[in-house]
Amino acid sequence: MSDLVVKTKDKLSEIKERSAKYLIGNYAPFDVAFKYGAGELLFDVNNKQYIDFLCGVAVTNLGHCDADIIDVVHKQADMLFHTSNWFYSDEASLLAEALVVNSFPGKVFFCNSGTEANEAAFKLARKYAISRDKQNPIMLSLTNSFHGRTVASMAMTGQEKVREGYGELLSGFEYVEVNNEESLEEAFERNNGNIAGIIMELVIGEGGIIPLTQSFVNLARKLTQENDALLIFDEIQTGMGRTGRLFACEHYGIIPDAMTLGKALGSGFPIGAMIVSKPFAGVLGPGSHGSTFGGNHLATAVAYETLRILISREIVENVPALSQFMFTRLNVLKAKYPIIKDVRGIGLHIGVDFTIPSKSIAVECLKEGLVLNSTAETVIRLMPPLNIGIERLDEALNIFEKVIMKHTQ
Ligand SMILES: Cc1ncc(COP(=O)(O)O)c(C=O)c1O
Repeated sequence: MSDLVVKTKDKLSEIKERSAKYLIGNYAPFDVAFKYGAGELLFDVNNKQYIDFLCGVAVTNLGHCDADIIDVVHKQADMLFHTSNWFYSDEASLLAEALVVNSFPGKVFFCNSGTEANEAAFKLARKYAISRDKQNPIMLSLTNSFHGRTVASMAMTGQEKVREGYGELLSGFEYVEVNNEESLEEAFERNNGNIAGIIMELVIGEGGIIPLTQSFVNLARKLTQENDALLIFDEIQTGMGRTGRLFACEHYGIIPDAMTLGKALGSGFPIGAMIVSKPFAGVLGPGSHGSTFGGNHLATAVAYETLRILISREIVENVPALSQFMFTRLNVLKAKYPIIKDVRGIGLHIGVDFTIPSKSIAVECLKEGLVLNSTAETVIRLMPPLNIGIERLDEALNIFEKVIMKHTQ
């Protein structure tokens, strides 16, 4: 075995070569390999410093290598990683309690990723609908949405490019236009109310940072209640303080029937969760669903600490001030550079929409030491850690402006 273990070498070209040889090519990585992180900073294998405005795609909301998170990882790893769901777990029960206390009355299912949380929500909606004698009930979602890469999550994903090349996946999925109330009403009418549920991101993420309107979400709540269907919020990207509230649904004042979490829940340690409101908490009974790793001791201990830190250090409370700073500066850039079409989002979940493809802006920013990503062809997504300081935001936006200026000439 030892001959097969490739030693870590610090040169990017070697890492790239090895990756090309041994990893399937389903990603198109940027030209960087990171070696370590500290707060909002990342350092690559050549020790170049970057400001992280991507957070591992909305995962490291507390920045990198928080001392308390590291401490919990060490302590829990010393004690116990995994036993299985055949036994009770102090850590899983404590995290479930903390999630419920900080969201809405209900119960929790744990898994390992966002897509699995959404698969669980899909199964919950289908099982409930079928128990109510609905025949082949339809699952609704939104046109620009992204819900994951497993088969039902992919089928719920409204962006066609994600489903392309796999033929017909599953039947029973329909898409409603984002913020189009007529399209939503029409979907319920067309199906005579034979709807299992509707899943929605309150701020469309991968699809270009588009906040849903209050009246659209109100209507979704009303129609699901009238038709005995489930309203599911996918808070995998918007959750854990990203929008300036612990969960984005707090902005809307609407409690869903189920809410899915992932990404920042574990600060980078893989974990997903579904919180199910009280009336539906008994739908998935013994044997109806499960996960080997889901809710293991290590993952739930880290997630509990993440939640504790977000709340006890008042990190979420500070997001609106940081957000205001960002929006003020970004709107100044919008007024100055006509290639900026729109600045939108909530909290530190921000998108800048350009009149030009945004990929080269992301590539140039990376060269200048700012990590961010391009999404929906023309949008740059800005998602700094929630505990970043104003000075660092300013430094990052100076880099962003420098790159925009280059693209304007
Ligand atoms: C809103 C949303 N839902 C679901 C997912 C899928 O999560 P995961 O990649 O952990 O399976 C993502 C990932 O980007 C997401 O942004």
